[in-house]
Amino acid sequence: MSTIPAQQACFSLDGEDVPFAEGETLIQAATRAGRYIPHLCWHPEFAPHGSCRLCSVKVNGRAASACTAHAAAGLEVESNTEELNAYRKTLLQMLFVEGNHFCPSCEKSGNCLLQATAYEMGMESPHFEEFYPNRPVDASHPEILLDLNRCILCELCVRASSEVDGKHLFAIGGRGIGTQLIVNSPSGKLGDTDMALSDRAASVCPVGVILRKRQGFSVPIGQRRFDGRSLSEQVQESAP
Ligand code: SF4
Ligand code: FES
Repeated sequence: MSTIPAQQACFSLDGEDVPFAEGETLIQAATRAGRYIPHLCWHPEFAPHGSCRLCSVKVNGRAASACTAHAAAGLEVESNTEELNAYRKTLLQMLFVEGNHFCPSCEKSGNCLLQATAYEMGMESPHFEEFYPNRPVDASHPEILLDLNRCILCELCVRASSEVDGKHLFAIGGRGIGTQLIVNSPSGKLGDTDMALSDRAASVCPVGVILRKRQGFSVPIGQRRFDGRSLSEQVQESAP
């Protein structure tokens, strides 16, 4: 267990001190300290997006997003509470019914942040009626498959393609339940873009939308990232 130097500024997370560096957000500091705060649209390599609300916490009794709220000395942050976890579970259930998520047949099963977070939050059923939206699968690219049925609109691929790859291949279009990921090409097909497997956008998707072709199930179910250890255990183990 790490010892916090006496002069190190800290905030309290569920009653325990978490040290932070100037400018860090609550989730950055918590993650570095091995404390798991649920999240979907946050990724340590990218600026926060603040859209999924999974990282909702209470800061001095008021609602905030841990991925956008900055750490400050003396803050009292609540995260792992019955109320907040129930809220997160409802958000997850809504995400599951808004898309078409069939985990047992999905190549990303066991490596999927949505699935792992649902397990973490004790989600056992979708609870709400399924929407079963009609979403396309785009197999036009020779090396990359795009299955929009599983998209959670986290915009990580949008950010990766513009900020890292400099290609601006993805955007979010439509409104309401019709909101979906769109491909910036004349035909709207991925095959009409210069996307490459080496692009950051090709490997950033936390769920099973952007997949490399011809390597399905190369790692057997049972040996994948979240099969052995939960998300929170992995965050805990990654702490120095
Ligand atoms: Fe997020 Fe993946 Fe959808 Fe892109 S394709 S918005 S990375 S879920
Ligand atoms: Fe903070 Fe998505 S992780 S809003």
